[in-house]
Amino acid sequence: MKIKNICCLGAGYVGGPTMSVIALKCPEIKVTVVDLNRDRISAWNEENLDKLPVYEPGLADVVREARGRNLFFSTDVDAAIEAADMIFIAVNTPTKTYGEGKGMAADLKFVELCARQIARIAKNDKIIVEKSTLPVRTAQTLQTILDHTGNGVKFEVLSNPEFLAEGTAIEDLFNADRVLIGGNQTESGQKAIQALVDIYAHWLSPKQILTTNVWSSELSKLTANAFLAQRISSINALSALCEATEADVDEVAAAIGTDSRIGSKFLKASVGFGGSCFQKDILNLVYLCRYFNLPEAANYWEQIIILNDYQKYRFAKNIICSLFNTVSGKKITFLGWAFKKDTNDTRESAAIYVAEHLIEDGAEIHVYDPKVSEEKIKADMLCLWELKGLSEEKIKSKLNQISVYKTAIDALNQAHAAAILTEWDEFKTYDWESIYNNMYKPAFLFDGRNILDFKKLDAIGFQVKGIGKNSFFNDKLKLVNELVIR
Ligand code: NAD
Ligand code: UDX
Repeated sequence: MKIKNICCLGAGYVGGPTMSVIALKCPEIKVTVVDLNRDRISAWNEENLDKLPVYEPGLADVVREARGRNLFFSTDVDAAIEAADMIFIAVNTPTKTYGEGKGMAADLKFVELCARQIARIAKNDKIIVEKSTLPVRTAQTLQTILDHTGNGVKFEVLSNPEFLAEGTAIEDLFNADRVLIGGNQTESGQKAIQALVDIYAHWLSPKQILTTNVWSSELSKLTANAFLAQRISSINALSALCEATEADVDEVAAAIGTDSRIGSKFLKASVGFGGSCFQKDILNLVYLCRYFNLPEAANYWEQIIILNDYQKYRFAKNIICSLFNTVSGKKITFLGWAFKKDTNDTRESAAIYVAEHLIEDGAEIHVYDPKVSEEKIKADMLCLWELKGLSEEKIKSKLNQISVYKTAIDALNQAHAAAILTEWDEFKTYDWESIYNNMYKPAFLFDGRNILDFKKLDAIGFQVKGIGKNSFFNDKLKLVNELVIR
């Protein structure tokens, strides 16, 4: 079966880049990406490619080549569904904020709506591809909804989870470690798998394309994210021990990373992981384990999140403790707000939680991020405080404690402390000597990503503190640890 027309529901961080790459690599296939969000679709259609809704290195070039040729962005969902032979579902699957499974389970209402809309519109047989990250056995739910279409057409459901990381999405898509395709072990299931394999085979080699049954594919996605996040929480747990013992976490990571059984990737200690996936997917895994009455397995995975919260809290506590136990009225400059470099995405960014904690202690937070706007930063905090049930008045007053700048130099002027929250490369190139001259003394610098040259900063006069490094306030650590243990 040759696919001629693809539709993707959801033009977000996954739908946009993945479909752009499929369109680029498969010029004979028409790819239409649709979304309910009109603003997002107009941004995808922006002539000025700097204004695309997703910032990813290399994405603008891909869109420039394919858009208008065989790549289209539209809000006409029904028309795109009707015309497609293959439909990808790449809508959001956030953690539920209400009812059964609140705070843990994935909210599948957007996915279910997609299935109902496809069922209502489809007039010929279609292959439905789960691109969103979903709990294992969701394909069964989709199949049940689709099979009651009333239009008498046949649907084959595939699982094809996405493994791209933000900031390297295009590179990851061009040269994926693997793509995973799960399908039914029936003749029509195998034909559908082959149709999707043929698409990826336009640019990936056969050994990069794995096929499995549908349940293994669904579960592998949650598992991959849980294993990756588990490494970060493990090294972050050790960073606390390093600070207490004068071991250096980067040296420890390098030493264990040379063991080929452990490997060197994903061992960078940090202020804590963020992003829209890790926390959500692990909570989902924890929920699934509890659902299947496996409490020990659930508690094991949940510890990754508990440790990550501890790391963000510990970073904020360290700042407060170093600045003589209060940051009230003090200017703390955040360099970076995105959850990692090379993205404008701020979902679950550690910066949000560190800011919350410092603002609670009365700090004035001054932010500079090369790709994140003032509106986004304030919206992140507003959303957090609304979820916590703070009054409108209280939120307004707290928002006044945040200022956002267009340049780092302005943000750092007359600051009591600087904190690196995102590992943007440009931070390494700054003239730290002149920054030091314009800061209050003692000038504190908290590097939540261990990207700066501590020796050089120390020589300039900064009081520098990294993650998992021996530091100027080791003598205060006992106190910090006492305060942090919850
Ligand atoms: P996103 O929020 O950026 O995009 C989802 C889009 O779907 C939104 O624009 C929303 O308006 C749209 N949408 C919702 N319901 C719709 C409907 N019925 N019809 C059409 N459009 C609809 O989310 P994302 O980051 O792209 O993630 C999408 C999925 O991919 C999630 O399940 C996520 O876990 C998974 N995933 C994300 C990443 C990542 O790096 N962001 C990586 C791998 C997998
Ligand atoms: C992740 C997975 O890597 C990707 O495969 C999946 O498809 C989506 O979720 P993403 O969240 O975009 O991707 O970025 P990732 O590079 O995994 O980083 C996640 C967070 O962990 C970031 O906040 C990053 O700064 C942090 N991190 C990562 C560390 O703190 N240390 C590390 O060693 C690696």
